[in-house]
Amino acid sequence: MAEPEIAQKSPYIHKVEEDGNLAWCACGKSQKQPFCDGSHKGSEFRPIIMDVKAGETIAFCGCKHTGNAPRCDGTHSKL
Ligand code: FES
Repeated sequence: MAEPEIAQKSPYIHKVEEDGNLAWCACGKSQKQPFCDGSHKGSEFRPIIMDVKAGETIAFCGCKHTGNAPRCDGTHSKL
């Protein structure tokens, strides 16, 4: 399996503004981190779709190596 690119070695803290779905970038190539912008096309990576609720604050993984995708699990501190 290909290695994702490290977008940043810290989480993206995101406050959700409305109920719905967010697509977390798993490949690390998106220019709209931490969300998918379609840059994964042609690779084996796919975004992870997450149901979210307004008012939630989520720490999205920035290093793309989390074991709890799409959430940060602290793995970035070991890279
Ligand atoms: S741009 Fe990275 S998963 Fe879509």
